[in-house]
Amino acid sequence: MKALVLFLLALLALPVNAEDGHRLWLRGEMPKDIVEKIDPTMPDDDGYRISGHNVTARTQMGLLYGRYALMRGEQGESHPFYKLRILNHWDNLDGSIERGYAGKSIFWGIPSSDETSFLSEKDRERLQLYAEANASIGINGTVLNNVNASPKMLSREYINKVKEIADILRPWGIKVYLSVNFASPMNLPGPRGEKPLATADPLNAKVVAWWKAKAKEIYQQVPDFGGFLVKANSEGQPGPFDYGRSHADGANMLADALKPYGGIVIWRSFVYGSKHKGEDRVKQAVSEFAELDGQFRDNVILQSKNGPLDFQPREPYAPIFDQMKQTKQMAELQITQEYLGQSRHLVYLAPMWSEFFSFVEPSRLVGISGVANIGLDTNWCGHHFSQANWYAFGRLAWTPTLTARQIAEEWIEQTFGNPGVQASHTSELLNMMLRSREACVDYMMPLGLHHIFRFDHHLGPEPDGFNPRYPIEWCPVYYHKATADSIGFNRSHTGSNATAQYREPFCSLYDNVSTCPERYLLWFHRLPWTYRTNSGRTLWEEMQYRYQRGVSEVEAFVGIWQQAKPYIDEQRWQEVNKRMKWQLDEAREWRDVCIGYFGSVQKK
Ligand code: GCU
Repeated sequence: MKALVLFLLALLALPVNAEDGHRLWLRGEMPKDIVEKIDPTMPDDDGYRISGHNVTARTQMGLLYGRYALMRGEQGESHPFYKLRILNHWDNLDGSIERGYAGKSIFWGIPSSDETSFLSEKDRERLQLYAEANASIGINGTVLNNVNASPKMLSREYINKVKEIADILRPWGIKVYLSVNFASPMNLPGPRGEKPLATADPLNAKVVAWWKAKAKEIYQQVPDFGGFLVKANSEGQPGPFDYGRSHADGANMLADALKPYGGIVIWRSFVYGSKHKGEDRVKQAVSEFAELDGQFRDNVILQSKNGPLDFQPREPYAPIFDQMKQTKQMAELQITQEYLGQSRHLVYLAPMWSEFFSFVEPSRLVGISGVANIGLDTNWCGHHFSQANWYAFGRLAWTPTLTARQIAEEWIEQTFGNPGVQASHTSELLNMMLRSREACVDYMMPLGLHHIFRFDHHLGPEPDGFNPRYPIEWCPVYYHKATADSIGFNRSHTGSNATAQYREPFCSLYDNVSTCPERYLLWFHRLPWTYRTNSGRTLWEEMQYRYQRGVSEVEAFVGIWQQAKPYIDEQRWQEVNKRMKWQLDEAREWRDVCIGYFGSVQKK
């Protein structure tokens, strides 16, 4: 009998200890002898102080954060730099995920289990672990649905579901937010079942009343609801322009509806092809928003992607962060690797985000958002190493000055660390992670080339991409502009003058080809193939050199992973190994297709 009980207990313990990546970086043991203390004199945030196994904080959340910090070996005092540390899920209500590479949504599309709950016990357990993982790295908000939002999200049926999710996440200090479709009042009945409205004009009294009633309905169910995220008049989404109104009119109307409950509106600046159609795409956000600076309510935050284009492996920072001086701003980072090999390539993103912070002072922002890479896959993120990007996002949102190295060290230790792991092996993994982003830049977009991704899925290369049915800003040829004698996009004062949107010294630095850093060369300049780069090689030789360098790096990573085999559990080793082979094949494809195409262009 005793043996049977032990056997059953061992079976029960199996999923927890299974090396399938499900437990993320939470595989360690929480010390049993932690002594917790509330100290009301500490700063009024959710920070903590750790001394030995004593954790002190002003709030219960601070104690919780402190416990996880202790688990990863922290000592001393720490406070969150940002109050808003939010994941943005691009999850659709049918369970699919826009730019999701790790299975379906953990929130939506799940068949209802019974009358009382739309979540099964298993769904709830998963959400608990999701919440715990987020809390362990300080994330305190989550947007539950895609920015390309379905109006259905605000229906009564779905608000009830949001309540269920919010109730599970709340004990972990995570507030829920929703992306909203600006035309919702035209698609959903009013509070007393009235017919949908004929307009969504933000200055129309009935529209204003509709949103106020909707806010009330939401807060009745979710009293600590965070607020709305809005993508308006961008890529086909409705917005205030449809009624001749401005972004400020739209955002302020929603902000007023949420204000009585303490909610915020996060309004995105990712816009192009609308009011400034035809202008260089990277300039359009500033063109559309700069004149509105100072016109937004104090509970509106403008959220902008780190770069001015769209989450490329390397972009110069987005100059909108320089231009909006009286508007609260948040940065939107993309954890899901839409343009960085998705869940097929090992690319550690913390170096890219730290690079961003070296241009945009963290103190210019009031918060950080990260487009999530989480799905129903057992290991949550598809690639085991993509978990490191979720982890790094949380850690940087708490302390933006942490180095990519520090974060990777912590993550490796918690994810792969065990007493059998040798220090030299750990440092090889670290080395690989720290080099991985630069390798990706080399094999996908050396010298500032950008957006030469295959249409729609954004994984492989398509340098000859042109489709007259698509907006020109979706076509790779618009970005590299390669011809027989030159390549690159002239954004200097002799071209689109995008450089003028930057503060000094960057404006002058980028504008002048002789001072423009080579990493941005073809982003800002159009140059002859024979142009001499810093190495002494011609531009064309340098491009080929860098494509090859990127591939060689991936070859080296494959070697590092082979050597790590004795120290990593079989399942995770195999799963990463399979993906590394894909990465190598795809890096070679990038090199061969791009060199082939750009070589042929020169012969024309
Ligand atoms: C990119 C991405 C889209 C997404 C958009 C956005 O263009 O490919 O899928 O909707 O960004 O951020 O709104």
